[in-house]
Amino acid sequence: MFSRSLIRNFAIIAHIDHGKSTLADRLLEITGVVAKGDHEDQLLDRNPISRERGITIKLAPVRMEYNSAKPTNFFSDGVPFPDLIGKTSQISKKLLVNEIDKAGLRYILNLIDTPGHVDFSYEVDRTLSCVEGVVLLVDATQGIQAQTVANVYKALAKNLVIIPVINKIDLATAEIEKTKQQIVEFLGVSEKEITLISAKTGLGVEELLKKIINRIPPPTPRFVKENKSKALIFDSYYDPHRGVIAFVRIFSGELKQGQKLFLSNSKTVFVNQEVGIFKPELIEKEKLGEGEIGYLVTNLKNIRQLRVGETVLDDPTISPLPGYKKVKPMVFASIFPTDSDQYLNLKKAIEKLYLTDSALEFSPIYSRALGSGFRMGFLGLLHADVIRERLEKEFDQSIVITPPKVNFKQEGKQFFEPYAKVTIIVPKEFMGTVMELAKEKRAKFITMDNRSQIVIVYEMPLSEMVHGFFNELKGRTAGFGSFDWQFSDYRPVKARMLTILLNKEAIDEFSEVVVFERAYERATALTKKLRAYIPRQQFEVRIQASYGGKIIASERVAPLRKDVTAKLYGGDRTRKDKLLKKQKKGKKKLKMIGKVNIPKEAFLKIFKG
Ligand code: GTP
Repeated sequence: MFSRSLIRNFAIIAHIDHGKSTLADRLLEITGVVAKGDHEDQLLDRNPISRERGITIKLAPVRMEYNSAKPTNFFSDGVPFPDLIGKTSQISKKLLVNEIDKAGLRYILNLIDTPGHVDFSYEVDRTLSCVEGVVLLVDATQGIQAQTVANVYKALAKNLVIIPVINKIDLATAEIEKTKQQIVEFLGVSEKEITLISAKTGLGVEELLKKIINRIPPPTPRFVKENKSKALIFDSYYDPHRGVIAFVRIFSGELKQGQKLFLSNSKTVFVNQEVGIFKPELIEKEKLGEGEIGYLVTNLKNIRQLRVGETVLDDPTISPLPGYKKVKPMVFASIFPTDSDQYLNLKKAIEKLYLTDSALEFSPIYSRALGSGFRMGFLGLLHADVIRERLEKEFDQSIVITPPKVNFKQEGKQFFEPYAKVTIIVPKEFMGTVMELAKEKRAKFITMDNRSQIVIVYEMPLSEMVHGFFNELKGRTAGFGSFDWQFSDYRPVKARMLTILLNKEAIDEFSEVVVFERAYERATALTKKLRAYIPRQQFEVRIQASYGGKIIASERVAPLRKDVTAKLYGGDRTRKDKLLKKQKKGKKKLKMIGKVNIPKEAFLKIFKG
């Protein structure tokens, strides 16, 4: 058994592509979890779609062990850790050093991940509640980005120790001094506290590992007066054989097999089937003690009983850990099979995804135009896109997905639209551009922090964010702009339903509530896009947009004259059949709306904004 004082729980905060997975690989090598060069790159990146897209939605957690050569003085490198965040710690320095001396020097390092994307900000918050410190990893060629800033604020609010690190210093394009300056300004640390590494070559990584041990304090029993078991769920997944497997951090007491356990919010009761740790594969242990991070097997079949943020208790009468919140989908779209015969297969695929993704919502719908399908709720646009891609690639489904929408509320004739608090970070020279964009997007300025990069906070309608905001921000700031968002509230707005009609038939899937000042623009954009993507048919197609009952935009697709076999004259039956067969196959890529054929791509392109 090891002492709690030898445990270090930490997370890495980094923007997409700044090198988190690569750093994790080096740490795994140094600690002997994997042999050097003897593994695929990005070992902890388990999600096939995230691998393919080159972005990590989330790394698998991992427990590493590290033998320190000499006793490590907690404050040895001259940086008293609490000063980094300006708060004093309750940990007694003397006690800590004594414990280390007694217990030996085999450190347990638990790395758990924060998802690097704006859609998952609640999960980041819960993950940060499970650790005592974070490595802030900044790419020397990119600098600090909005997502990183938002997550660092979360870490600061939790009094976590922050270890600032600059990565990719091996690159000729690395701007080390400039990046240092940014970090100094942002965190208020001195330059010498910043660690320089190359996650790729391994330069500086062992030194970083020692800093993690020296500066991040061991877990203290937090929130505990009772001597009862309390653990926080920071992630979970569904295993078809063993039910939901929950990833937990133990705050007090212990978890072991056979215990009767309670979930604080869903009020579910279950018997603990197994506990263990991440190596990174699941390794069974007799028990998990205070401060440890590991998993437990619940045998529960419904992942919704076991959401991120739940507290696991062995006594239902004691209070749960603070901060539980049920995440709500903010962006909605409908999904239909391209071929109606495939409805049941699509249903099975969505049900499987639903089992594994506690944030996903779905309910069956019927559309006159598109047939049977599902209305789905997502955390944001990336979440929607990942689900679409998984349905297509993992489950081999041919689907159409309607343009993403946000939910307006309605009381009588009054609409209320959802607003988000948006934090944007850009280099100074793009400040004007961003302010212009924000104005176009009906955003209300809140605050600005003018340092080496500008941090601007706005309140913005969610519908504006969903319609191309991110692409425009990237485009107008030469790729440098980044942003983070959070739902804030609903506000009254002048709005009506915008409906798209194809040959007078309303297509609900393209209909949405639109605010007055956007109605004409949106109507024109949609009708023009549809005209561009709808192939000519045997008859004329009229595309119209109706707003509050009035037609405000219209387009027309002229009819086709010839049929495909017309140019084959006479006898050759096989050629003709072949061509018809080919045409039939081609049709699978099309979706009938009423009598009109619309290619799947049309939906995707409109979906992308
Ligand atoms: P996501 O998976 O998108 O979250 O990114 P990540 O932060 O995990 O970054 P990842 O480790 O995938 O690295 C992104 C790219 O940068 C990869 O091509 C890496 O090989 C490269 N990279 C990471 N660290 C270094 C480094 O120190 N030097 C150089 N030259 N390249 C690096």
